[in-house]
Amino acid sequence: MVLLSFLTHLAVGANLLAQVPLVNSLALYQDRATKSLDDFIASESPIALQGILNNIGSAGSNAVGVALGLVVASPTKENPDYFDTWTRDSALTFKALVDAFIAGNTNLRSLIENYIYAQAQLQTLPNLSGNLSNGLGLGEPKFEVDGTAFTAPWGRPQRDGPALRATALIAYSRWLISNGDTSFVTSVTWPIISNDLSFVGQYWNWTTYDLWEETLGSSFFTTAVQHRALVEGNALAEQIGQSCASCGQAPQILCFLESYWEGNHIAGNQNEDNQRSRKDLNTILGIIHTFDPSAENCDTTTFQPCSDIALANHKVVSDSFRTVFSINAGIPEGSGVGIGRYPEDTYQGGNPWYLGTMAAAEQLYDALYQWNKIGSLEVSSTSLAFFQDFSPSVATGVYTSSSPTYTTLTSAIKIYADSYMSLIQKYTPSDGSFAEQFNRNDGTPLSASNLTWSYASFLTAVAARDGVVPASWGEPSANVVPSVCAGYTATGTYLAPTATAPLSPCTAVTSVAVTFNVAETTSYGQNIFLAGNITQLGSWNTVDAVALSAVDYQAEYPRWYGTVDLPAGTALQYKYVDKGVDGSFTFEGGANREFLVERGCAGEVQVHDKWQQEGMTLRELV
Ligand code: NOJ
Ligand code: NOJ
Repeated sequence: MVLLSFLTHLAVGANLLAQVPLVNSLALYQDRATKSLDDFIASESPIALQGILNNIGSAGSNAVGVALGLVVASPTKENPDYFDTWTRDSALTFKALVDAFIAGNTNLRSLIENYIYAQAQLQTLPNLSGNLSNGLGLGEPKFEVDGTAFTAPWGRPQRDGPALRATALIAYSRWLISNGDTSFVTSVTWPIISNDLSFVGQYWNWTTYDLWEETLGSSFFTTAVQHRALVEGNALAEQIGQSCASCGQAPQILCFLESYWEGNHIAGNQNEDNQRSRKDLNTILGIIHTFDPSAENCDTTTFQPCSDIALANHKVVSDSFRTVFSINAGIPEGSGVGIGRYPEDTYQGGNPWYLGTMAAAEQLYDALYQWNKIGSLEVSSTSLAFFQDFSPSVATGVYTSSSPTYTTLTSAIKIYADSYMSLIQKYTPSDGSFAEQFNRNDGTPLSASNLTWSYASFLTAVAARDGVVPASWGEPSANVVPSVCAGYTATGTYLAPTATAPLSPCTAVTSVAVTFNVAETTSYGQNIFLAGNITQLGSWNTVDAVALSAVDYQAEYPRWYGTVDLPAGTALQYKYVDKGVDGSFTFEGGANREFLVERGCAGEVQVHDKWQQEGMTLRELV
């Protein structure tokens, strides 16, 4: 009987295969290497999210002894020891989680708030970079997992951390404001953000270690994220009636940012204490983390992903790795290769990095999104070499989306972007875990295991691939470069954030009561059920689906709901099903919904959904 109902499904159409259990179980037997990229991304997505959650204190399975809200760079404790919390890695990770929360993963909220409270405490901690009274302590790159200062020599200070943290907190704050919770912003997030903005305004023109913790000088990534933070910080301050004196430095930082362009690529560093080629992944990271979907015309001043200088740089940086790694040998230009930090790198053997290879894909997905939005793309003399990899005879000019050249180029660039992700698929072990690097000769995983930042890079690259872009940070009105650059800085004000929660571990729960709520207007005799791919939800068999209750049903909120106890850590797919008066089941339309039961301290969680349109009917055969 069950099999017959599958056949009914299969007959309906190929686009529905994703929700058919037969196909799900077949996928288990498929060799990973033969999976399509889409299938890899679908199976890797919950693993990547769980990989992040595992590294967050205090409930993460790889975060034993880690204070509440802190995230370790990796659980690896030796060669390299990454069992510490870096301000940069944490902020980039939480920015990705905030965006995932805004995109609908509501159960990330307590995690985000724990992170915020933990950062408030870290800001006040005296450390080897200084303390909060003049802001210098905010430049400390990392802390111990129990929230105490790290006291060994290190490449300090690193001035990107406060800017990145401000960006993560601003993204969450803006969501709170648009959802009516300005008071949390005023009392909890703004005091933390304000300290970080003060730090950026005061010290942006001071020497810093780069994000790789090696080079002392000025780094493109650091300057780019600092500019962004002041622009969006200023907008947030205005929105909540606060002032940000330090934010006035933004145009000067932008002026300095322009000076990284060297004519055919972006200099990774300037005023640096080494003699390298300056070709550096930090440029691509700076570009993707300052992408603004509202920027107009592929703006060059802020190095937007689709700007000619950003594309020229993408080619120079990615090509620089073609000859240095033997796993890249023979792969032609215009096809993805493993990307490391910079070609001269020797750290842990100097290999391709998962996060670098995914960043190369992400810039291209961002560019594709933007061209589609603008309705045209431009080939300039600066970007010509980049485009010639896809069409050797292409000429400079503007190609509208109705032109064959536009179609040829954008289709090829989508394939190019995907080829980077296919390399990730190829070099990811069968358990789906991401290390920091993969061996330059044979692609085996190397260096730190389960690197939080690698997982976060997967989430952001896949979101960009899906056209789910982050909110604007204000580029459209913040791209005017002053005619003369000046290194002005502003003395900031620094106050200990008062609304803090203790950095104490909480007790992790093993089972969570998940209440699924769905809004769906029904008429008498209709009933709503919940079906999914786990046994508790009937393994997609409608006969075993969970009946929902309508006791709280009202016209303005036609609520159907039910509670299911699920083991913490369960990743599941589900859909709501309508059982009609005649006993037939109609699945809601669209893709299967996904949910991850957080391994956290909360024993209860609410999921709020709306019925998805485009249904299909499955006649009950029992
Ligand atoms: C040098 C590496 O290049 C840097 O990135 C790393 O964090 C430190 N050593 C500490 O291991
Ligand atoms: C070394 C990387 O170079 C640096 O960017 C990162 O913050 C740390 N590892 C921790 O992941």
